[in-house]
Amino acid sequence: MELTSSIYIAGHKGLIGSAMVRRLRQTGYGNLLLAHHAELDLTKPDAVNGFFARHQPEYVILAAGRVGGIVENQTFPADFLNANLAIQLNVLQAAHRFGVQKLILFGSSCMYPRECPQPMAECMLLTGKPEPTSLAYAISKLAGLQLCLAYNQQYGEARFIPVIPNSAFGPNDNFDPTSGHVLSSLIRRFHEAKRTGANSITLWGTGAPRREFIHADDIAHACLMLLNRDTSRLSLPVNLGTGQDYTISELAQRIAMVVGYEGEIVWDTNKPDGAPRKLLDSTRLHDFGWHPTIDFDSGLRNTYQWYVEHAALLEACL
Ligand SMILES: NC(=O)c1ccc[n+]([C@@H]2O[C@H](COP(=O)([O-])OP(=O)(O)OC[C@H]3O[C@@H](n4cnc5c(N)ncnc54)[C@H](OP(=O)(O)O)[C@@H]3O)[C@@H](O)[C@H]2O)c1
Repeated sequence: MELTSSIYIAGHKGLIGSAMVRRLRQTGYGNLLLAHHAELDLTKPDAVNGFFARHQPEYVILAAGRVGGIVENQTFPADFLNANLAIQLNVLQAAHRFGVQKLILFGSSCMYPRECPQPMAECMLLTGKPEPTSLAYAISKLAGLQLCLAYNQQYGEARFIPVIPNSAFGPNDNFDPTSGHVLSSLIRRFHEAKRTGANSITLWGTGAPRREFIHADDIAHACLMLLNRDTSRLSLPVNLGTGQDYTISELAQRIAMVVGYEGEIVWDTNKPDGAPRKLLDSTRLHDFGWHPTIDFDSGLRNTYQWYVEHAALLEACL
């Protein structure tokens, strides 16, 4: 990829898309194509084709999608399935039609079977039913991944690269306690508890499930490497994780420490836990030469600092 290559980052205001923009700009890439959701709705095929025809991107990072935590997934499964299927279909068709050189599509660890042996290797995809609470989202992501592999197979190329990051976090995450993912929601909840002087905070579930978290800047680093290097011999898809997981209870304690919350943490065990463990086997990508560089606690501190700097604005928008 040349520093002058035209690179379209779909979803550039989101968690992963904004990290891609930061990384590309820091590395000297100057020809970034960015379009807000309001200007370009990727569920509309004519709009997507028109955009690709006008701008002819050489590289695409597909970081746009309908994403959310357990409550959102259970409340809006049809919206999740519709939006993600349409976005992936429209963008991949246009990328194929307009000769994009490489495209990265993000899958999700939710795609793996609920009872998957841990850590979850790529060969375990489609060997069992995913966790029911995020099934619609998982099916949409499996379809996107399969579409990449189908194009690669049918046209004898490896231009479409499906990457499966584990739970991402970092600046520009969604910190809404209802619609956000667990880590960002907890940051917001602990911040509020500290601000209001609450002496206890009640969290969903038992705290026992284990999760792996990856900073969005580490995801961006890996994707830039995949765009730049010859990936023709890389088996696809590739998992993208740190190899280290934590219980939700450990996560809560770490966030409490970062935020400075000293009250009690109570677990509401009547609420669902979700999958018991979701640790990715990222050997494929590690063997390819990528390793995480951001340790978990400094990633949490950097994310909380970003949240504090933007909290007033975010709260005004919610
Ligand atoms: N976050 C994670 O833990 C995680 C883990 C694994 C994989 N992924 C995948 O990575 C991708 C990016 O996730 P993320 O966490 O960065 O999501 P995010 O922060 O919610 O960002 C998604 C972006 O997509 C945009 N978007 C949504 N619908 C759109 C549409 N119809 N047309 C144009 N833009 C649209 C959103 O714009 P608006 O906000 O204006 O709607 C937002 O900027 C998703 O495919 C997700 O499935 C995420």
